[in-house]
Amino acid sequence: MAKLWGGRFSKNTNELVDAFNASISFDKRLYHEDIRGSMAHARMLAQCGIISKQDAQAIVKGLQGILKDIEAGKFDFATDLEDIHMNIEARLTERIGDAGARLHTARSRNDQVALDMHLYVKREVVEVAELLLKFEQALLTVAKAHTKTLMPGYTHLQRAQPITFCHHLLAYFNMLQRDFRRLLSVWDGADMMPLGAGAIAGTTFPIDRFQVAKELNFAVVYPNSMDAVSDRDYILDFLNFSATLMMHLSRFSEEMCLWSSTEFGFIELDDAFATGSSMMPQKKNPDIAELVRGKTGRVYGHLLAMLTTLKGLPLTYNKDLQEDKEGLFDAIDTVKFSLAVYADMLTTMTVNVDRMAAAVHQDFSNATDLADYLVRKGLPFRQAHAVVGKCVAYAIKKHKFLVDMTLAEYRKFSPLFAKDLLTALAPEHCVAARISYGGPAFAENKKQLANGKKILTAQSQALAQLQERL
Ligand code: ARG
Repeated sequence: MAKLWGGRFSKNTNELVDAFNASISFDKRLYHEDIRGSMAHARMLAQCGIISKQDAQAIVKGLQGILKDIEAGKFDFATDLEDIHMNIEARLTERIGDAGARLHTARSRNDQVALDMHLYVKREVVEVAELLLKFEQALLTVAKAHTKTLMPGYTHLQRAQPITFCHHLLAYFNMLQRDFRRLLSVWDGADMMPLGAGAIAGTTFPIDRFQVAKELNFAVVYPNSMDAVSDRDYILDFLNFSATLMMHLSRFSEEMCLWSSTEFGFIELDDAFATGSSMMPQKKNPDIAELVRGKTGRVYGHLLAMLTTLKGLPLTYNKDLQEDKEGLFDAIDTVKFSLAVYADMLTTMTVNVDRMAAAVHQDFSNATDLADYLVRKGLPFRQAHAVVGKCVAYAIKKHKFLVDMTLAEYRKFSPLFAKDLLTALAPEHCVAARISYGGPAFAENKKQLANGKKILTAQSQALAQLQERL
């Protein structure tokens, strides 16, 4: 097909150049935004007397027809028309003639693609926020069911202090709610309207950028035409949000893999959310968690790739900027898939409460509590730490845990030990006594759960507001 920009050219484009230059294979997913943006542009052009009302009507009607065709799978995307913008515009002109050829008045693909991407990112912010909320909800639901489920908390992957499974999951809830906040701030960067910046320096036509912004629900119009066509900060913001979210999910995935191993045995994934081995009949593998962990790398890669693309790029539009799409699209797909599958995997897994309890009863994670016990009897903490350290070494030698030692044995290490030390050692007590703000005590977890519910309500309200501003 003839190029829309072919006027000054006397040769056809080399086939390899067409293939290399084209973005249609991936930017066709912007068709809805492109059509919506073009309709708003056409209406504004007519309103400002730049094209006739009849032309604008023909354009809008023609675009509606193209939208229908694309959605029905009846649109042929042509590589030699390079991208979604020229595919749609060429088809429009084919259908409605001169009116179609007037659509691009006072517009460049540089501001057009920027507009499409802003609209697209806003839509995806909302869709990802919906999935994120669902995931946070799943975390809270499982956490709520386990306020009394004891387990060892770990540092250095060594058993450290008794906690509850609820507390552990709430830690992830807290990360995820920060991710939600970060996602909301992506919206602000995307909620800026670039159209009317033209190729770089605006236009000589008396356009009304604010009308376009109003029709498309944008809060702000880019105040500088050069910034408008070269800004990709909102894409970086989305990728940064995605990288951080995936990092959280990846940490969680690592724990899911550990917990579902025979060595830990803390959880068992539902059969519908695990996979088998083609050779080893006994295997039940946590592929989903592993894949989420694995896919984190490519999302990091997309962030770094975008930063690198932008680094050293002179103002304003350069074709390098076409590279903003595939990484973003892949990050969006990856994040959405990960969130969706994870939420259901969580709520369907079995938590082996007894196994967790056994782990916390048969170990030394109550040692800090024994030191605290001595501190309460008046011993300075450092000395208490040393005394309990000796008790632990003694117990290990005798193949015992701290609860198995007799009072007489304890007395050899300090005269401050008395009968009540057994209470101090009970994991239930260790958890219940950790009443400091943010700690794992049952009462504290209850407060955190209640607060979590409030956060979710506020987040759904924020989401509803965004949905209205799409
Ligand atoms: N496909 C291009 C992109 O994604 C659209 C903008 C092209 N602009 C240009 N002057 N070549 O960036």
